[in-house]
Amino acid sequence: MEKIILTGDRPTGRLHLGHYVGSLRRRVELQNSGEFDKIFIMIADAQALTDNADNPEKVRQNITQVALDYLSAGLDPSKCNIFIQSMVPELTEFTFYYMNLVTVQRVQRNPTVKQEIQMRGFRDDDDANKKGTPVGFFCYPISQAADITAFKATTVPVGEDQAPMIEQCREIVHKFNATYAPVLVVPEMLLPDSAACMRLPGTDGKAKMSKSLGNCIYLSDSAEEVWAKVKGMFTDPGHLQVSDPGKVEGNCVFTYLDAFCRPEHFEKFRSAFIGRKVSFEFNTLDEVKAQYRAGGLGDMMIKTFLNCILNDVLEPIRARRAELEKDIPAVWEILRKGTEVAQATAAQTLKEVKQAMRIDYFNDADLIAGK
Ligand code: TRP
Repeated sequence: MEKIILTGDRPTGRLHLGHYVGSLRRRVELQNSGEFDKIFIMIADAQALTDNADNPEKVRQNITQVALDYLSAGLDPSKCNIFIQSMVPELTEFTFYYMNLVTVQRVQRNPTVKQEIQMRGFRDDDDANKKGTPVGFFCYPISQAADITAFKATTVPVGEDQAPMIEQCREIVHKFNATYAPVLVVPEMLLPDSAACMRLPGTDGKAKMSKSLGNCIYLSDSAEEVWAKVKGMFTDPGHLQVSDPGKVEGNCVFTYLDAFCRPEHFEKFRSAFIGRKVSFEFNTLDEVKAQYRAGGLGDMMIKTFLNCILNDVLEPIRARRAELEKDIPAVWEILRKGTEVAQATAAQTLKEVKQAMRIDYFNDADLIAGK
């Protein structure tokens, strides 16, 4: 069986470090591993509209931004198809048929849907002062099953919050295959391999990076912006003096170090501490943590180290973005080509799906012959 990846993001803003460690970095590795036969990366504009119906302009503008983020992070259009969801209309057709295989009650139990309804303040009772949940938003898990199955994806690299979506997709596949014919593929999800990458907190220490909370470091932030944000990061509020013992758990700087620090960073960035009162003599993250816990390691030291690491990651991304920004029509050409391939692929699967459901009437010689 072919190995096929499908994943994507909603274009509601630029991509940030949470997207990067949660999925984007992994996608680039998988792309370069050569282990996959096909890779589809989707800009989920139709899904973004499910809770932005009154602001299509925001979604429209962010398609270009997300495409720039993808390409600058290392997605390579010669190895993967980057495409725009709404430009593959077959996806809405899959969604319409899958809706009949899922109950309202099942979607209501989806933990991510529940949480997102709450986060957006959609009313779940009769409070007339609040907006209700758009039906399209409520149905997005089903549309996401369409996205995955249309490409017969075997592998879906996503962040932890998407796990209930993949689970629901697997149920739809089983139901479809059992009801009609086994044409759909059951996808596996691929989660990040560490807790820090699974759910990178915002710079304020809040659960998740989110644009509305203003706690994000964007892939397109300048070195100055990154340093300002790192300096302002939440650490251990009880760690007042350098000599005080500090907490590593729940300390944002350490969570980010867990997600980004590699062994070679210690040697590489020792020079950043030259001229300071204390030098940076550590060789492993465990040593840094032990010293912080014991006391005697200041927040500015660990923030400086983190800043060096983040810029090491972001600098090549920034440089590629600056190049790509010079030719936006070329970026759109990449999207057009990727969308063409995606559309043809989805159309082929849709044909099989309709055949399995026996709703391909005009190809049905028996039906037409009156048998
Ligand atoms: N829900 C995903 C997000 O919010 C985007 C998405 C849409 C997606 N369809 C998908 C992810 C299919 C993986 C597979 O980022």
